[in-house]
Amino acid sequence: NKGTYEHYMQKEIHEQPESLKTTMRGRLIRGGFHKAKSVLLGGLKDHLKTIRRSRRIVFIGCGTSYNAALAARPILEELSGVPVTLEIASDLLDRQGPIYREDTAVFVSQSGETADTLHALQYALENGALCVGITNTVGSAIARNTHCGIHINAGCEIGVASTKAYTSQIVVMAMMALAIGDDTISSLSRREAIIDGLFDLPNKVKEVLKLDQEMKDLAKQLMAEQSLLVFGRGYNYATALEGALKVKEVALMHSEGILAGEMKHGPLALVDENLSILVIATHDACFSKQQSVIQQLHARKGRLIVMCSKGEASLVCPSVSVRVIEVPQVEDCLQPVINIIPLQLLSYHLTVLRGYNVDQPRNLAKSVTTQ
Ligand code: M6R
Repeated sequence: NKGTYEHYMQKEIHEQPESLKTTMRGRLIRGGFHKAKSVLLGGLKDHLKTIRRSRRIVFIGCGTSYNAALAARPILEELSGVPVTLEIASDLLDRQGPIYREDTAVFVSQSGETADTLHALQYALENGALCVGITNTVGSAIARNTHCGIHINAGCEIGVASTKAYTSQIVVMAMMALAIGDDTISSLSRREAIIDGLFDLPNKVKEVLKLDQEMKDLAKQLMAEQSLLVFGRGYNYATALEGALKVKEVALMHSEGILAGEMKHGPLALVDENLSILVIATHDACFSKQQSVIQQLHARKGRLIVMCSKGEASLVCPSVSVRVIEVPQVEDCLQPVINIIPLQLLSYHLTVLRGYNVDQPRNLAKSVTTQ
């Protein structure tokens, strides 16, 4: 049931304050006198010791689910202290890449039925790894065949373009990072800041959804373009890849997510006055590097759109011709949840304006059950 919305994708984008609450329900502990704030993931608790002792944690998925793992990798690395690697399921299988008994392999999948991810799970089981599932579908093949796991609990997602499952997957993996991480004094304030940030995240998502009309206006500006590049780095490299995936998948416009640190190693050659480029430059440890990327893209006359933290437009804007999207700032590792939302809205409006099918893009299926 689409309710008052015209499309499922639109409904699912706007549902995110609620879906995130459901994802976190019963899993965050507020703490109190003499008791630290913490995270409780029932499906994982008997395996946490093994995960902490593993030689590496390898996240495996396809499409948006892979991007969610990419978004969560920095916080997983920081809090777990265990090396974290990522694999696109089909590529792992093509290479028959190494998976060991000492590995924890985490399978991320909204449907829990994606053929490549499922085959990679079979492969990891045969190689003796501890297999963890992160899925949105109770009773799915991945949920049934892993040793343990976490349900995303984002609610049923119908639009082929994954939206609310993505933000919930990132939150689940951030909670997983907190659960794996040690409760040391040195990490206490960081952990508490993240948990506070998680509690407040649904409100911040509500706030960023108010950009809907602004994104519709931006879509009008961009609807006839051939291409849109999206530059991101650090926590928001995933946002660049995922934003571009949404634009190509539903709006059928060429779009590429680019790691900003790679700009001078090739992509800069594309930039001229005809190319639209969206740069993600919200405030985090990479901010000054992104400021310099913006300067260089501007110097080559790229048509810039910059996403920045609220109140920082003047710090990122080399000229009045640059269009700015201001978003609420949250804890750095949760910022990808906020930053993807304007891009989801943009791709939705681009699709409607260009006259394409929003919920069922041509040639695609919601769940890819063949290889
Ligand atoms: O169900 P899964 O999360 O395993 O699906 C993986 C991809 O097929 C999926 O995320 C796909 O990329 C989406 N349509 C993107 O919006």
